[in-house]
This record gives sequence, C-alpha cells and structure tokens, in this order.
Amino acid sequence: MLAAAMRIFLTITAFIVIGGVASLTWLMTRGPSEAQAARIAAVLESTAPPGEPAAYAHCASCHLHDGSGRPGGSIPRLAGQRQAVLENKLHRLRLGITRLPVMDPFARTLTPKEITDIAKYLSALPVAESPPSAASKAVRVRGASRYALHCASCHGANGEGHDGLFASRLCGQYAGYIHRRLHEIATRTRGDADAIMQDAIEDVSVGELRVIASWLAEGKGCVAP
Ligand code: HEC
Ligand code: HEC
Repeated sequence: MLAAAMRIFLTITAFIVIGGVASLTWLMTRGPSEAQAARIAAVLESTAPPGEPAAYAHCASCHLHDGSGRPGGSIPRLAGQRQAVLENKLHRLRLGITRLPVMDPFARTLTPKEITDIAKYLSALPVAESPPSAASKAVRVRGASRYALHCASCHGANGEGHDGLFASRLCGQYAGYIHRRLHEIATRTRGDADAIMQDAIEDVSVGELRVIASWLAEGKGCVAP
C-alpha cells in the first residue's frame, strides 16, 4: 500500500519536473533570433555579475543577468525599470493580487527584503539601446503627440514613469511587450489588477495605441528617471 502510494507520488513528481523543464525550454526558445539566442546563451553561461542579489539567481534564467528579457515581448525588459514600480509589482505577485501563472512559483516565495534587493538591483541596471524603429517619422511624431495627450499625466512627459502612482517606466520597453499588455488591458486578461489602465485607455483608439507604442519603444523620449 505504502509502496503503491510512493510510486504514484514519484510518478507525479517526475511529471511535474519534466513539465517544468519542458515549459522552461519552451519559454527560453520562444521567439529569439539567432543573434539573440547566442546572447542569451552567453549570459546564461556566465557567472552572476558582481552585486547581483542571490535571490535573483532563479530569475536570471528567464529575465537574464542583464534584465533585458525578450525583444519579442514575451518577457518584459526589467533593467532600468523604477524601483518603486518593481517593488509594487513583486509585492502584488507575491500576495496573489496579480496572477501570472509563469511567475507564481518564483514570486510567491520572495521575502520583502529580497523584493527590495532585486528591485534596487534591476532599477540600477543600464537599459540596453533600443533598435531603430521600423515606423516612419510621421508615425513616430504622431505617437509622441498622442502619448502627451493620453498617457503623460501618469507615465511622465517622456515615459519615465511615476513612483507615487506606481506607473511603469515605458520608454525603451519592447514594442511587442507594450502591444501585448495594452491588448491584455483592453480585454481585461489580468482582471482588476489592471483597473487603473482599463479606465485610462477606454477612449483611446487601437490605432492611437499602436503609434504610441512605436514611439515609446524607440526610447527617444527616455531621460534619466
Ligand atoms: C520561468 C521563467 C521566469 C522566471 C524564472 C521568472 N520570471 Fe518574471 N516573468 C516571466 C514572464 C514570462 C513574464 C511576463 C508575464 C506576463 O506579462 O504575462 C514575467 C514578468 C515579470 C515581471 C513583471 C510583472 C508584471 O506585473 O507585469 C516582474 C517584475 C518579474 N517577472 C520579476 C521576476 C523575478 C524577480 C523573478 C525571480 C524571483 C522572476 N521574475 C522569475 C518569466 C519568468
Ligand atoms: C491614470 C493613470 C494612467 C494613465 C492615464 C495611463 N496609465 Fe498606463 N499604467 C498606469 C499604472 C499605475 C500602471 C502600472 C500597472 C502595474 O504595475 O501593473 C500602468 C501600466 C501600463 C502598462 C503596462 C506596463 C507594465 O509594466 O506592465 C502599459 C503598456 C501602459 N500602462 C501604457 C499606457 C499608455 C500607452 C497610456 C496612454 C494611452 C497609459 N498607459 C495611460 C497608469 C496610467
């Protein structure tokens, strides 16, 4: 009886481990170009850079040591994000207020001190240069003016974000991520966790959001936070 229970337990454990490795592999291989894949491999093979908090070791397997995520937008760029915004995000993930299944096992076990250490570390990392935008100049100029009208009041004149409102730094974030998040906000994928943004973009057209994202992703508006 005990042996049978043990066998079932071991089988389930094996499935969980295999599933975990498979989904990690899937996440790691999704999207990146050849050059990006080589860069990811180089980062993963390297040892943790000096100053990296021990608690960030697991995170680096997906977010990379340099906090650059994935240009396709599946994983956000966290390097250079505001400390207050990162802390707020991680506390909400830890408490289950924001539910992101892929992040749950990692965020749920963080202590408040680890959250502060990680947020401080990531916010101080340099933001890698953004690739040139494929959008035309006319589109980008329009994006800048639409941004000023609809978004600057919370996200700052240049997309630098706002500590008091916990509004994310958006300038330099990958266009793919900004597009995905705006779509999720519009379709209420994260439920109440995106309540502020849901109201904010209610009257902004999809076309306007597209040109705004093109301008933000280019990082031209970025200034030191
Ligand atoms: C298995 C891969 C993986 C690991 C490990 C991982 N993350 Fe993530 N993380 C993701 C993905 C994917 C997203 C994007 C989720 C989404 O937007 O739906 C994300 C999103 C985030 C966000 C943004 C959350 C938000 O509210 O938008 C933060 C902050 C973050 N991760 C920090 C961390 C930290 C800190 C750790 C380590 C304790 C960690 N992650 C470990 C994959 C991972
Ligand atoms: C009333 C204030 C407010 C306005 C106006 C506003 N936002 Fe936000 N936005 C926020 C807050 C607060 C968050 C942080 C949510 C979080 O951490 O989960 C956010 C998050 C976001 C995110 C997700 C970023 C991330 O880190 O996950 C995007 C993308 C975004 N906003 C784009 C925009 C755009 C584009 C506009 C203008 C069309 C806009 N916002 C207008 C307050 C605002």
